[in-house]
Amino acid sequence: MNIVDIIIKKRDKKALTKEEMEYFVKSAVNGEIADYQISALLMAIFINGLTEDETSFLTEAMVNSGDICDLSYIDGIKVDKHSTGGVGDTTTLIIAPIVASLGVPVIKMSGRGLGFSGGTIDKLDSIPNFRTSLSPEEVVSAAKKTNLVITGQNQNLVPADKIFYALRDVTGTVDSIPLIVSSIMSKKLASGADSIVLDVKCGSGAFMKDYTSAKELAMGMVNIGNKAGKKVTAVISSMEQPLGNYIGNSLEVIEAIEVLKGNTKGDLLEVCLTLGGAMLLNAQKVSTLEEGKALMQETINNGKGLEKFREFIKNQNGNPEIVDDYSLLPLGKIVKEIYSPREGYISKMDTALIGEAMVETGAGRHQKADPVDYGAGIIMNVRIGGYIKKGDVLAKVYSSSEEKALLAEKLLYNAFTISDTKSHAGKLILDII
Ligand code: URA
Ligand code: CA
Repeated sequence: MNIVDIIIKKRDKKALTKEEMEYFVKSAVNGEIADYQISALLMAIFINGLTEDETSFLTEAMVNSGDICDLSYIDGIKVDKHSTGGVGDTTTLIIAPIVASLGVPVIKMSGRGLGFSGGTIDKLDSIPNFRTSLSPEEVVSAAKKTNLVITGQNQNLVPADKIFYALRDVTGTVDSIPLIVSSIMSKKLASGADSIVLDVKCGSGAFMKDYTSAKELAMGMVNIGNKAGKKVTAVISSMEQPLGNYIGNSLEVIEAIEVLKGNTKGDLLEVCLTLGGAMLLNAQKVSTLEEGKALMQETINNGKGLEKFREFIKNQNGNPEIVDDYSLLPLGKIVKEIYSPREGYISKMDTALIGEAMVETGAGRHQKADPVDYGAGIIMNVRIGGYIKKGDVLAKVYSSSEEKALLAEKLLYNAFTISDTKSHAGKLILDII
């Protein structure tokens, strides 16, 4: 087999075989083909697409390019969740402890944030002394003790994705549905859970800007998961405005705790109830989604979710006192308020721009190796449909740098559309597949 023939075949819109996909992935990981050849094939895939079979061959070859986690040491149906990435998207920190407290094991590998979308590992790293890089042995003992572990990705989990993603990032080939499907699903399949609940974000603060492309991505991921023998549910949820009102790392930990305490309601809680309800359903703890959502809410009301969160922090060496004393978490000393230039109703938000402002505060990364300011971020004061007077505070910026706070402030002034007539946010949960 020859990589040039494979590139030409895809360039000419022909379907690749299982053997050709395996050859491509293996040679990329072994360094037997050049970056420009990998990039050329990724671009041919970007332009000409992949059939469902080809996507499945590619994903399977990627799964087999590295380690596959074996979670059979834990009894029960293990359920994983994944969000395609959004702004103020703090769901894992809320859902995982609730679901785990109900006896469903959650052993989860999460990523760091990049660009406007945040990552669970950065949020957890804002907790003093919390450990996010556990050895495989530590994961096993932590999982046996509390039923809940969240750790950074094993270095040898889908090495093919690391190579492809780095090249896609610099060759304009990130937003290809088959490439996103294979990237996300290869990592989820290699992580070893029996079932996966996917939160596919749709709107101005997500990869997928409209419902049609979000649905295509969701169906693609569900198909690949089912073919690999896993029960997969995809929820399509709105990212037309930040999901929660706290955006950053320590700030999102605080909002997650507030939801677990039952103090914060609204869209973030609603999406968590739906995703968690689907996890409980797939784990056969309940027999309908509605029952699952009710059980999630009950576990907030009775405090068991919060109790599991404390236990989880302690189990990974963090200080559980942060739950009762937020001053133990970092918070930027430079604070800037964004004032409304006029009276009216919030009719639209540019959520990607709010995410970029979050990056500018220091809370996110432009480049993969950038450091993160854990105490930086934004607190949003308004939601779509809300009424404001001239001079009201729309948002507050936190940073440890005056210069960075100013950059964020500038972006935020352009993120809100204010109208004379009241408008409503669209549906929060757009579909469940
Ligand atoms: N997230 C991933 O892990 N991979 C993609 O390709 C896009 C989003
Ligand atoms: Ca994430």
